[in-house]
Amino acid sequence: MRYFIAILIFLVIATFSITGFRGSRSSKPPLEMFPDMDRQFKYKPQAESNLFPDGRADRPQAPGTVSFGSFHEDEYFVTGLVDGDFGDGFPIAVDGDLMKLGQEKFNIFCSVCHGASGDGNGITKKYGMVATPTYHNQRFRNMSDGEIFNTITNGKNNMLPYGAKLRPGERWAVIAYLRALQRAQNSRLSDVPSENREDLGL
Ligand code: HEC
Repeated sequence: MRYFIAILIFLVIATFSITGFRGSRSSKPPLEMFPDMDRQFKYKPQAESNLFPDGRADRPQAPGTVSFGSFHEDEYFVTGLVDGDFGDGFPIAVDGDLMKLGQEKFNIFCSVCHGASGDGNGITKKYGMVATPTYHNQRFRNMSDGEIFNTITNGKNNMLPYGAKLRPGERWAVIAYLRALQRAQNSRLSDVPSENREDLGL
């Protein structure tokens, strides 16, 4: 008898839990055991507020401040421009660490289209992105660093901007690596320091 009651209770619970409340609609808010922080006071964008004299919840930037992460004294470092024209040269020291960073970011963000060696034959060519140029021609070798910085930041024609994905320092690192790729495809033996020439196996 005891078993019978236990099994009966189990069956009743099982039947109700499987079929019981399925699909039934209710206009009442669901039961919340743990509301966490689902509902809280907040302003929605562009909402009104009577806390501020002008009635707006959105606050204008306080005079003399810049938004977090956007301040840099060096205009060239963040724009690639010097007095409105593309500048040339690196605003930060180019060393092994920067090159490593540039290589990593280039392989993540650029090589899909421009190819690991910068020859324009990335994987996307197979899928119809045929307009990707090679970096290994005179126009690209002569292109100023500032212009490349600007292309990475703002994109160009079919190329999307990477300003939001790469921070300014990372963009300069990518340019340093891009320059290394160019030199790797267009150099003379005299460019290699004499003590490293043996490494080439020549
Ligand atoms: C989705 C594919 C794609 C990716 C990813 C991409 N590019 Fe490009 N890139 C292009 C195409 C296509 C062009 C040619 C744009 C045009 O029509 O001038 C181009 C052009 C360029 C140019 C030359 C612009 C000029 O003035 O002619 C540079 C420099 C360049 N890319 C650098 C980069 C760098 C650096 C990255 C990585 C941060 C990158 N690209 C990522 C497709 C891509």
